[in-house]
Amino acid sequence: MTQPIKRIAVNTGGGDAPGLNAVIRAIVHAATKRGWEVFGIRDGYNGIFLPERYPNGDGVIPLTRARVRGITHLGGTIIGTTNRGNPFHYPMPQPDGTIKEVDRSGEIIEGFKKHGFDALIAIGGDGSLSMAHELAKRGNIRLIGVPKTIDNDLEGTVATFGFDSAVSFATEAIDRLHSTAESHHRVMVVEVMGRTAGWIALNAGVAGTADVVLIPEIPYDMNLVAEKINAREAAGRNFSIIVVAEGAIPKGGTTSVVEKEVGKAERFGGLGEKIAAQIQTMTQKETRCVVLGHLLRGGSPTAFDRLLSLRFGAAAVRALEEGQSGVVVVLNPPTVNYIPIDQVADRVRHVPVDCDTILTARDLGISFGD
Ligand code: F6P
Repeated sequence: MTQPIKRIAVNTGGGDAPGLNAVIRAIVHAATKRGWEVFGIRDGYNGIFLPERYPNGDGVIPLTRARVRGITHLGGTIIGTTNRGNPFHYPMPQPDGTIKEVDRSGEIIEGFKKHGFDALIAIGGDGSLSMAHELAKRGNIRLIGVPKTIDNDLEGTVATFGFDSAVSFATEAIDRLHSTAESHHRVMVVEVMGRTAGWIALNAGVAGTADVVLIPEIPYDMNLVAEKINAREAAGRNFSIIVVAEGAIPKGGTTSVVEKEVGKAERFGGLGEKIAAQIQTMTQKETRCVVLGHLLRGGSPTAFDRLLSLRFGAAAVRALEEGQSGVVVVLNPPTVNYIPIDQVADRVRHVPVDCDTILTARDLGISFGD
């Protein structure tokens, strides 16, 4: 028989996403209602295994109803997050100045037991969920995962919270760029996040009626991009909007990466500027680039994301109460239910190239540069 739950820990890992605070609030309310105590581990797992960073001893903080009051609409996460310093491959400076990766997961498990936690609710993307899964296996920890990412690239769930907010913001930005592009007869390139998946670029590009959308799933040919812009010019449409996913790949080329160091995740960047320069050379049209970057992760969650976050948080607590462990709550319309964590962790859901949004885009005359 599983032990009754009294104290649970919650953490948020990876890049922040609008809706994290709403998940935390729902967990606190649902757990408190059941008489459980809730604690937040700060900054991923840092709060539990890097005590030197928390000199006031507040690496783990009690989350009461009072502490989560009025946070549903707030971006970010009140307990902090990190997408650096994976505890399984923690970068440790060596006396000779080099960096060596060290496995510090045992310290987290030890800290977890010391705090007397009966379970962990880990809110994160594929990497964070896979870390939580490994910790749970090694430390025999009861675990429920909550899928988060603005990139929408997780398997097993129809949507992750944060995605709708990112797409809404990107769409508004594209709308705003239309008027300046048209007034100046320019090409505007808009780079959006999304890592190796093109969900944000595709959805915002179609909703914002872009002329070209470049996504990682469809390698592009710059000649065809230039052809599209020139064809518009010939038809009297002397401006164009090009939406570029940061992870898009030229045919026969590679992704544009700005960072790849020991202990750090690969970081995409720079593609929008490269494409803008190529377009200017190839079409002789004045071209500007706007990188939306981290603006996509900030601000208030949309109503859709708030509701999804609240549903995910409450469902995670219900799953624990039912005795579940090693599962992730997922949106499987019309319900939120759960599936084994290994169906989600360390997997990436790409845009199917024959999905109806792509077919719609093609019918609307949007070019993918292919
Ligand atoms: O996964 C979320 C995400 O925002 C990606 O879209 C992006 O590539 C990455 O995080 C950026 O992370 P960082 O916070 O390290 O800049």
